[in-house]
Amino acid sequence: MGEALSGLKRTHYSGELREAHIGQTVTLMGWVQKRRNLGSLIFVDLRDRSGICQIVFDTAVSEEAFEKANGIRSEYVIAITGEVRKRESVNNNLPTGQVEIFASALKILCEADVPPIHIDDNDEANERLRLKYRYLDLRKPKMQNYLLTRHKIAASARRFFDANGFVDVETPMLTKPTPEGARDYLVPSRVNLNKFYALPQSPQLFKQLLMVSGFDRYYQITKCFRDEDLRADRQPEFTQIDVEMSFVDEEDVRAINERLLQTIFSEVAGVEVTLPLPKLSYNEAMERYGSDKPDVRFGFELKKMNAIFETTDFKVFSDALASKGDIRGININGYAEKFSRKDITKLEEFIKSYGAKGLAWIKFHNGEMQSSIAKFLDEAKIEAIKALFDVNDGDLILIVADKPNVVFDSLGALRNEIAKQLEILDPKDYRFLWVTDFPLFEYDEEENRYMAKHHPFTSPKDEDVDLLESDPANCRAKAYDIVLNGYEIGGGSIRIHNSAVQERMFKALGFTEEEAKEKFGFFIDAFKFGAPPHGGIAFGLDRLVMLMTGTDNIRDVIAFPKTQDAKCLMTNAPSVAEQKQLNELYLQLTPVEKAKE
Ligand code: AMO
Ligand code: AMP
Repeated sequence: MGEALSGLKRTHYSGELREAHIGQTVTLMGWVQKRRNLGSLIFVDLRDRSGICQIVFDTAVSEEAFEKANGIRSEYVIAITGEVRKRESVNNNLPTGQVEIFASALKILCEADVPPIHIDDNDEANERLRLKYRYLDLRKPKMQNYLLTRHKIAASARRFFDANGFVDVETPMLTKPTPEGARDYLVPSRVNLNKFYALPQSPQLFKQLLMVSGFDRYYQITKCFRDEDLRADRQPEFTQIDVEMSFVDEEDVRAINERLLQTIFSEVAGVEVTLPLPKLSYNEAMERYGSDKPDVRFGFELKKMNAIFETTDFKVFSDALASKGDIRGININGYAEKFSRKDITKLEEFIKSYGAKGLAWIKFHNGEMQSSIAKFLDEAKIEAIKALFDVNDGDLILIVADKPNVVFDSLGALRNEIAKQLEILDPKDYRFLWVTDFPLFEYDEEENRYMAKHHPFTSPKDEDVDLLESDPANCRAKAYDIVLNGYEIGGGSIRIHNSAVQERMFKALGFTEEEAKEKFGFFIDAFKFGAPPHGGIAFGLDRLVMLMTGTDNIRDVIAFPKTQDAKCLMTNAPSVAEQKQLNELYLQLTPVEKAKE
């Protein structure tokens, strides 16, 4: 039970009190962080959104307040009135550490059970418990700061868009499947039995139609839904800062959106980003970093070694080359000493999860060379390797031979893993990078056909349009990603606005005319009535917040996130539907065992 406010008004936030307030009478409201009894004095740390302030209950000031204070415990909600005084034992670790409040009155507004997690940034409760009691977890200053930063980023973006003539338009949540390549979340329709809406994977089709309508510049900060396998930087529902513009080319879209990033980082993090941001073509990113989202805070760049091993007795390497594979390596320059054979075996295990079959190594240390493939290295090869990697004493070369994409994936991931292990990454060193000139298609081995790498509405490069039919694998797109410290924080493209090219694109993707009509008929039709050239981008807001706050867990920056298996542990969603609801929808469930057959 708690008391009512009965007219009591808060005058200040706890965290804002300073020496300048000394002598004032203030009323504060918040949660009890902790209470300490020191005989004739009781100390309470009072916490609200702004921070913590020390309250003193002294019988000499108020016996009644002192008595009540005796009964309060952590996480009780209280209101106190008192005088701000100079603190006897100054606490320099606390912004309010110069002062304390001598309470003349105390109201207990709400009592609290002992919380199942400790409301403290250093709390070590496991994440499942924290997610179950998310509303308590969110009381922690660190968590509040994440969400505050998120709010500031969104607010800064909105100000920027407004100042630059962008119109905020909402687009439907109950819609048709959108072609972003993930699985859809379906919603059954009761009014139209046996029909389903899909939750949007992005507002892609709608924002393009808004360009056809003439809105010219659109933005929206909105939820997107993708039923895909979750990773540390993915959630089934996440938020995009979504942008579309008319009468623009690639450069125009990049220019204004890098100004957006510059503004956000300056306003929210006090970080000055220099423009224009560097650009790297997709091919160069892959060649040098083995990844289309490279972390460029460190080197360890990939080098192709095919020529060096053109003739070799090492069967693994010669077989790889014979089957159109590659041999590439990275130089962990200066860190040879840090990696024992055992450590390298662990790295080998690590890259096996990326499909690599082994990891060959060469160590240059104390004027000597050691290697797992020493017997296959003659003098000429050693010299060539030294020249290729610019080898110095203390260097470690790590080599993978396999299919080109396996080599890229495994060495790309290994670079990041090693930098992480060596602790050479500064999270506050923000290295932005545009990756451009993406391939338009990607071959899907399972489906045995080309798929759109971005989505089917992305325009080919003008000079590559004819490759749509003759050489799809080498057709490049007017597509770009924005990468920050190894994360893709956004991506977009110039769209096809010409129906004839769109039809050729659908054909290249293997759609028959009927299929294309059935799926995107309304969209194709729209382009027959005057579509401006247009393009855009979408940023992943969650990832942006994650990088700015320096956490590596996307759940930290989402108020009520889902677990790796797409569950909300607080509400227990998803849960079973009532039979009545299923009946209304004419839905029948298949027993799980049967469904799995
Ligand atoms: P894309 O699919 O690249 O492009 O998405 C844009 C950005 O959204 C973020 N993102 C995610 N964040 C968290 N969890 C997820 N599951 C997730 N999936 C994507 C990424 C990504 O860069 N309609 C196009 C954009 C356009 O062409 O304008 C689109 O959705 O940071
Ligand atoms: P082995 O002759 O099998 O002992 O292998 C010699 C070295 O080559 C070991 O360090 C293996 O890890 C490494 N190795 C095996 N397969 C590959 C591969 N596909 N790419 C790079 N190194 C490999």
